[in-house]
Amino acid sequence: MEFSIKTGDLSKHKTGCVLVGVWDSKKPIASAAALDKLSGGAISAAAASGDISGKVGSTLLLHGLQGIGAQRVLLVGIGDEKAYDAHVFCKAITAAFKALKSTAVTDVTVPLQVRFKKDMAHKVEQAVIAAIDAAYRYTATKKSDTKNAGKSVTFFLDGKADTKALNAAIKAGNAIGESMQLTKELGNLPPNIATPAYLADTAKQLAKDYGFKATILEQKDMQKLGMNTLLAVSKGSHLPPKFIILEHNGGKKTQKPVVLVGKGITFDTGGISIKPSAEMDEMKYDMGGAAAMLGTMKMVGMMKLKLNVVMLVPTCENMPGGNATRPGDVVTSMSGQTVEILNTDAEGRLILCDALTYAERYEPEAVVDAATLTGAMVISLGFHTTGLFANNDALGWELVQAGNAAHDKAWLLPMGEEYDEMLKSNFADIPNISGGRAGGAITAACFLARFTKKYKWAHLDIAGTAWKSGADKGATGRPVPLLSKFLLKRAGA
Ligand code: BES
Ligand code: MN
Ligand code: ZN
Repeated sequence: MEFSIKTGDLSKHKTGCVLVGVWDSKKPIASAAALDKLSGGAISAAAASGDISGKVGSTLLLHGLQGIGAQRVLLVGIGDEKAYDAHVFCKAITAAFKALKSTAVTDVTVPLQVRFKKDMAHKVEQAVIAAIDAAYRYTATKKSDTKNAGKSVTFFLDGKADTKALNAAIKAGNAIGESMQLTKELGNLPPNIATPAYLADTAKQLAKDYGFKATILEQKDMQKLGMNTLLAVSKGSHLPPKFIILEHNGGKKTQKPVVLVGKGITFDTGGISIKPSAEMDEMKYDMGGAAAMLGTMKMVGMMKLKLNVVMLVPTCENMPGGNATRPGDVVTSMSGQTVEILNTDAEGRLILCDALTYAERYEPEAVVDAATLTGAMVISLGFHTTGLFANNDALGWELVQAGNAAHDKAWLLPMGEEYDEMLKSNFADIPNISGGRAGGAITAACFLARFTKKYKWAHLDIAGTAWKSGADKGATGRPVPLLSKFLLKRAGA
């Protein structure tokens, strides 16, 4: 997609579609007065018609307006004039690009008022992400039923602004948007295509494109390292497991890296503790953490971040079978701690714990993992907010803030002794489930915390936020925006 910045007379500007905000008082935004006048009042008349409520995100597409350069005007509700802020802008712009998704519009103009200078770069970045996000089409195994992915977006300024900052915002927004597309595509691909080997190939391609160092550990390498909890999950599957490592050395040699870890279960049947069959197809998204980390690495590469970043993706399938792990099996993790696998469906933590132990060798500045880890997470925070856990308060709040800044929210949940004590086994150092359903997302995090004592660590449970069910079933690309903001800030970009 192309993004550009222009200044001049908006009413003469030739474009497929110009966006115009409408308050819930049914009045168009004051800055559109000239457009309205030249079009003979068609804009204000349409806004007042009742065909658009003015509620944030409501839209109405107008055709054939006379006297202006734009072929179409998209009215976009921006709510109460007194409550208007950057957040409302971002919500409205997302709705606008969504509405244009099913039209033939290929170039869109977004007017910006320089009197809102302070938020402008943020708005531009978010608009770029929204435009790219709306342009995403899944076509790998199905013809697209919608026509046009938007091709270009022009930000039209009504005066002088810091174009350097705006171009930087376009660059960052573009990197985040493109990276979310990769994350979505990997998530949406069927589990017979997006296998562990496919994720490894994707990582190798990223390494080629952006100069990362790629290392793929094979089953025998993992055996040598003693990654027995990971291998226990993989045992029932005919597909070989992979342990994917990407290293980006953008910072000083002496700088400790940020290590990203993503859960890469390419299909989760539950194993011998098999899941009910309803909606089991959605367990292809159980590599959402891995997809998000691969996406985030693309962003790191596109932005050439001046930061050392390592990505670790343990990936395999969780299948039943004659060779599958049994409930009751005890295995020794790479850390040396023995684990009693009481439920083979609690497999995410089993592949993650060995990856978290492997992370120690980097003496990391911080480790952040993302995983579609627990159904309990969906029950606690629903589909809008990612669950966040951390063994270090500063790191936890840093990620909360990154999520807020990216409109990709996460919220901190507790861990602590009382929950940790729920993890008791008569036959191993730790069981992989707590026994009851209470606090399931928390006890899962506490399990991981047993393997992260040597560094600052945060865990994102994205079970509710990585994909959507229902008619709009599909990966969301989250938490790439949150992780991107976090890393961009750390890199001083
Ligand atoms: N991948 C699932 C978690 C999940 C479930 C994500 C539903 C999104 C929607 C995970 O591997 C799992 O099966 N967790 C179990 C853990 C339980 C056995 C302690 C769960 O949440 O039911
Ligand atoms: Mn499972
Ligand atoms: Zn799983």
